[in-house]
Amino acid sequence: MTVKDSVPSDAVFVKDRLDRDGCSVTSVLMQDQDKTIVFEDLDGQRAVGNRFSTREKIAAAMNIPSDGIVNHILDAVAHPKPCEVVEDPSFRQVEVERDLTKLPIPKYFPEDGGRYISSGVIVTEYNGMKNMSFHRMMIMGPDSIAVRLVPRHLFTLRRMAKEKGEELRVSICIGAQAEVLLAAATSMDFGADELEVASSMHCIGHGSPLKVGRCDNGLLVPADTDYVLEGRITLEEATEGPFVDITGTYDFERQEPVIRIDRIWSCKDPLMHVLLPGGWEHYLLMGLPREPMILKSVRQAVPGVKNVRLTEGGCCWLNGVVSIKKNKDGDGVNAILAALSGHTSMKQVIVVDDDIDIFDDREVEWAVATRMQADRILRIPGAAGSSLDPSSHGKNTWKVGFDATLPLDADPALFKKAKLN
Ligand SMILES: Cc1cc2nc3c(=O)[nH]c(=O)nc-3n(C[C@H](O)[C@H](O)[C@H](O)COP(=O)(O)O)c2cc1C
Repeated sequence: MTVKDSVPSDAVFVKDRLDRDGCSVTSVLMQDQDKTIVFEDLDGQRAVGNRFSTREKIAAAMNIPSDGIVNHILDAVAHPKPCEVVEDPSFRQVEVERDLTKLPIPKYFPEDGGRYISSGVIVTEYNGMKNMSFHRMMIMGPDSIAVRLVPRHLFTLRRMAKEKGEELRVSICIGAQAEVLLAAATSMDFGADELEVASSMHCIGHGSPLKVGRCDNGLLVPADTDYVLEGRITLEEATEGPFVDITGTYDFERQEPVIRIDRIWSCKDPLMHVLLPGGWEHYLLMGLPREPMILKSVRQAVPGVKNVRLTEGGCCWLNGVVSIKKNKDGDGVNAILAALSGHTSMKQVIVVDDDIDIFDDREVEWAVATRMQADRILRIPGAAGSSLDPSSHGKNTWKVGFDATLPLDADPALFKKAKLN
């Protein structure tokens, strides 16, 4: 099932002709981020946005309950499952003219460096090491793209290839299933097979493995993908940016690698997945897969951890909340340290007792207001943080943790919320 086949029945269909360069896609997507929007005429072609903009939509696509996503990801990372290789993958139904400038890929904000692929997942393999991860990609010309590589796994594979003077073959997937998108955004061990993790999620939710098909460059990619672009990360670099990223602010220009595209495939009647930068869908696809890693890290330090959440106010990336059942008075501080190391881009975490609903921002602030004094704020200087945080501008960052849990010997009568029975 490609994105095209999984558009929900309450999706909004925009029939007006929109222009790729006028940022009009952005203004439509921003109006109602809950709703899936299908653009019927984006310069003559079709696109879809806000596809996975709520936890409920992601869970529905994976056929699991929405409060089970975090454990679903953890389970799949621990138990990857083989994919099923198919001979007739949907993405190979049409060979598209090799001209990126003709695809329905928009410019999102006026000062962006150009039109951007915002939902692209890059699949690669080098010396037997596999990787699959999301990357923003700026269209430079008919067959060239500048790609932003934060120093993580794809960056490392590219560096290994570059040191040998070699290009790195890649396949860029746009419009893959929810399981693939979550696996691509989850941080795993270097070389882990992220497609097999997606397959494990698919087995649990749908009772069958993930289907994959082979590209001409030899790489296996999710079969049910609307567009697949085969190419190479070359030895060249070019200016990439500016681009509005997850914080809703313009990330600055950098010199980044250039990808040359050799072949473009699509399914019949494809829908280009236009992911709103800094929108809810961006928050969730990038932030949600970090929650299992935070949970795992905190669970090792504080077995009584109940729940974790990256908050929308912190762009589902920079700020988090953790609830715990304390056994020792130091558990609050240990939970802060473990949470920060479970997601190194996070710079603020609030730890609360397990009677607090961490999905209710007012209740979390109420816990901070009524259960702690500033002597329980932990400040940590000189840590590496997110390159996307404009306040650190790519340099080291301060981390801060609020231990808003009650001391074990606190008098409950002073702190309980009054109820009418
Ligand atoms: C919508 C979206 C856009 C992203 N853009 C980028 C990007 O431009 N560059 C980057 O390095 N990571 C980006 N990421 C984050 C990586 O895909 C993510 O950190 C992934 O876990 C990295 O894979 P790795 O752990 O295998 O290195 C993005 C994630 C999402 C969901």
